Amino acid sequence: MIERNIRNICCIGAGFVGGPTMAVIAYKCPELIVNVLDINEKRIQNWNNKDLSKLPIYEDGLSEIIEKCRNKNLFFSNEVEKHIQKADMIFISVNTPTKTKGVGAGKASDLKWIEASARLISKYSKSGTIIVEKSTVPVKTAETIDTILRSSEENNNKDHIPKKFTVLSSPEFLSEGTAINDLLNPDRVLIGGEDDFAIKALVNIYNNWIDEEKIFTTDLWSSELSKLIANALLAQRISSINSFSALCENTDANIKDVSQAIGLDKRLGKYFLNAGPGFGGSCFKKDILNLIYICDFYGLKEVSEYWAKVLEINDWQQKRIVTTIVQKLFGTIHGKKLAIFGFAFKANTNDTRESPAINICKRLLEEGSCLSIYDPKVNASKIEEDLAVNQSKSINIEKDAGIWCSAKTINDAVKQADAIIILTEWEEFKNIDWEKIKKMMRSPSWLFDTRSMNDVKNVREKGFKVWSIGYGK
Ligand code: NAD
Ligand code: UGA
Repeated sequence: MIERNIRNICCIGAGFVGGPTMAVIAYKCPELIVNVLDINEKRIQNWNNKDLSKLPIYEDGLSEIIEKCRNKNLFFSNEVEKHIQKADMIFISVNTPTKTKGVGAGKASDLKWIEASARLISKYSKSGTIIVEKSTVPVKTAETIDTILRSSEENNNKDHIPKKFTVLSSPEFLSEGTAINDLLNPDRVLIGGEDDFAIKALVNIYNNWIDEEKIFTTDLWSSELSKLIANALLAQRISSINSFSALCENTDANIKDVSQAIGLDKRLGKYFLNAGPGFGGSCFKKDILNLIYICDFYGLKEVSEYWAKVLEINDWQQKRIVTTIVQKLFGTIHGKKLAIFGFAFKANTNDTRESPAINICKRLLEEGSCLSIYDPKVNASKIEEDLAVNQSKSINIEKDAGIWCSAKTINDAVKQADAIIILTEWEEFKNIDWEKIKKMMRSPSWLFDTRSMNDVKNVREKGFKVWSIGYGK
């Protein structure tokens, strides 16, 4: 067991989790020195940018915290080895995407960044350091980290005395778009481990702003697995409600009312029942694929098949939205201009990873439509990268097909458009002057609201034809 006074902490990985999580720890624990490390130089430069609008991540409340703590007790650096050496506690918050090659490709998590982090820690850190897994990892990864830490050649110092480490699991449950609020007021903090002193050291950090009863401690494997299962259940709820959105459209029921009606049952609860274009984000898909891989590994075929269906419904939802758009626009969208409202995978973030907008827009382009894409936070170069199609300067509806350009405003996007397709639930798509917008479009003017944000009756009264997800009229 290790007893340690924690003063200096660092985090390997300055991404969506590492950056905000460490910023909040630094903010709430002014006595700690917090170093956030990354091998990506550009990312660190952006974290250190004086212009706070250039931070690599947009999250409500993040820039205020950075302004207060940066270069006081919060530092962003590329000097990974140097800060690992000094740290009493090291968080690992590196990416764990789905493997693209080799054994388990397409399902298993690629743990090469976790392994690289463990090797760096083994080589440079001092004995007694506590290692905290923040990344989402397959169950038993802590064992892998521990094995690397113990067996790595560099682990022995000059006197051949092995260094001692303790590995804890503390998965992160924040959601993008509400990351700072989630970190300041989490439903729970989960800590898994076998070493009571190390667990206490981490509990003490969180205790600076989180009540003890919200800090749940358990063994390593339950902690690691709980994270995967939490994400799987959240994604399953979305696929369930999306499957019912199709049933509502066919039965003249309204998914919004259905969601509300069932959510009133305390056992079901009202959250995560919004039908939409399918879940996106960097984690739901990869974590379910990982779960499927683990179940297959243990011979649990029925369990893995059950979770595979959640992903299948998600893809189907995106496909059926495109089919519906084509059918409603007289069976062809070739050469038609479609205004895309929203490209981020959800509102209040500039993240587009696995955004349903990517697949939907790619399919609409394949059908020959011209897209004018507007998102308040996603820049054109990111959209270009995601669609793998160069941006055009403008759209000539007489001649062009299968091209896209970015729009700076809603008004810019809708000029001469045949349809508007809402893909992200940004607040500004709720308060639209539909009468004014209608005048700028071609007729018949369609609204396809895949987030059911607008009152169908009201928009129809302004002269639009409207299809809203899960609304069967
Ligand atoms: P990210 O890709 O935004 O950030 C990871 C960072 O780690 C990158 O900047 C990368 O350069 C850096 N990195 C990789 N190897 C490194 C090394 N050896 N040394 C230094 N830096 C290194 O990823 P993310 O979204 O922050 O996710 C990190 C983990 O947290 C994943 O396992 C993810 O599943 C999990 N998670 C993510 C979220 C989310 O909302 N994004 C929420 C909860 C959990
Ligand atoms: C999700 C989880 O909510 C977090 O708890 C978890 O930490 C994180 O994944 C992770 O491990 O990465 P996030 O992906 O940031 O967070 O965002 P969510 O709010 O969960 O939304 C995911 C997707 O589901 C979005 O595309 C969103 O639009 C969609 N969604 C969400 C719906 O379609 N309907 C809903 O009712 C809720």
